[in-house]
Amino acid sequence: MKDTFYITTPIYYVNDVPHIGHAYTTVACDVIARYRRLKGDKVFFLTGTDEHGQTNLRAAQQRGLKPQEWVDQIVPHWKEVWERLEISYDDFIRTTEERHDRSVQDFVQRLHDAGDVYLGTYEGLYCISCEEFKTGSEILDGQLCAIHKIPLERVQEQNYFFRLSAYQDRLLQLYQEHPEFVRPKTRMNEVTAFVKAGLQDFSMSRTSFDWGVQIPWDPKHVVYVWVDALFNYITATGFGVDEQRFRSIWPADVHMMSKDILRFHAVFWPAMLMSAGLPVPRSVFVHGYLLVGGEKMSKTRLTGIRPFQLTDHFGVDAYRYYFLREVPFGQDGSFSWESMTARYNAELANGLGNLASRILAMAGSYFGGLVPEPSSRGGSGRLREAAKALVERFPAHMEAFQLSEGVGALDEFVREANRYLVEVAPWNLAKDESRRKDLADSIYASLEALRLIAVFASPVMPGASARLWAQLGIAEPLSAQHLPPAARWGLLEPGTRTSKGEALFPRLED
Ligand code: MSP
Repeated sequence: MKDTFYITTPIYYVNDVPHIGHAYTTVACDVIARYRRLKGDKVFFLTGTDEHGQTNLRAAQQRGLKPQEWVDQIVPHWKEVWERLEISYDDFIRTTEERHDRSVQDFVQRLHDAGDVYLGTYEGLYCISCEEFKTGSEILDGQLCAIHKIPLERVQEQNYFFRLSAYQDRLLQLYQEHPEFVRPKTRMNEVTAFVKAGLQDFSMSRTSFDWGVQIPWDPKHVVYVWVDALFNYITATGFGVDEQRFRSIWPADVHMMSKDILRFHAVFWPAMLMSAGLPVPRSVFVHGYLLVGGEKMSKTRLTGIRPFQLTDHFGVDAYRYYFLREVPFGQDGSFSWESMTARYNAELANGLGNLASRILAMAGSYFGGLVPEPSSRGGSGRLREAAKALVERFPAHMEAFQLSEGVGALDEFVREANRYLVEVAPWNLAKDESRRKDLADSIYASLEALRLIAVFASPVMPGASARLWAQLGIAEPLSAQHLPPAARWGLLEPGTRTSKGEALFPRLED
């Protein structure tokens, strides 16, 4: 029985190192995975690398390397970036692994046995960067790929074909019965229109090179890289090796990506799964493109900005926060140094960071760093109300993949907490010995707000949250906190020793 929340990133081509577009998807998935763990769900979060096909082969040839040598060299760079960005994946799959080879062969054999594979000849214009044949409006003047703006290559080959055309009705039925299969809705409309217009069988093998998984019944052919790649999502669940594990994880709850590869996931993938007699994924979520100069940032076009260029300056937590906060999830967005600097200063350095350091400093000066005893642990007033809003809104947004709104709810709470401080002005209460009880109440409530911030920010900014948690001095580890219990107001124990510590978000150097 399925008991695990399963989320995937695309497996990325390794013709180069990651840019911030790849990191955008991966960080978003990480935030969702961490949020689910915070909720107490069992989670399987998968990422990995798509290592076969011509785009990788070409990259190796350009460097005078064998493809296997090249992919072995570059994959550690991908892992390093994910490590630096604190990506908490549960498995990293490489399509050149033996476990994958075996399961792809099993998969294509199933398609063959189902009678959905036949030998035919194809001629068409191929984009190596998309690893896809192009037709109609996908081809720009001069036979260029509309996405990558690179010349398409004419390919004519005898290939095995997958009978996609036979799945039109079943796909339309799937979309109708599960309108959430593709989100946002506009993407579902696009997919439905595409399938309604009629489906062509696609070629699922290649003979002009041998960098791929062999077709089991005809070893002159290797499996088309997209068929090979999509199946990674199932290989990693233990398919064919550990049936029980496979059933506890598959189908995926969400495949995350941008629209460049939607058709593969929402049309080809479910059709092949239906043919193989396997359950289809529960949903595909399409976020927007990060743009540079109004165009999709891309490796091929050398417009890729590397994550380290930004994390070295802003830190990893701010990096993770910025993209989710800045770009409504599902829409295209641009990165700029100016907007990132502005948000860093306003929301992190002067917002959250300053809030934490002021409150902890006051706890230090007025109560020797110990959490004071409040008159009531229930709390009341403006801050308590704001906390209620956070506790309701953040999970609702996360469940709906409204990541920018979720992060926005956190920022709103930080602002409310700052307003609260201005309103109650503990520094004035501290001057009046008769108001000692009010002072204790206000500092307790403020520290409790920080505790909630650490809990709710932990999926988004795991490092800063852990530092804040340590400053609060709470004995139980942050990783042991679960929602909803950890969201209850008043859990902070009076007498806990807090400490001011280093600034969570230091001022930026020019
Ligand atoms: N290897 C295939 C995917 C196979 S999945 C079974 C592939 N790889 S890729 O390296 O080109 O990665 C494409 C994905 O990277 C996009 O779908 C998206 O998730 C992410 N992004 C790449 N560039 C991006 C932007 N400029 N903006 C946002 N996301 C982008 O396709």
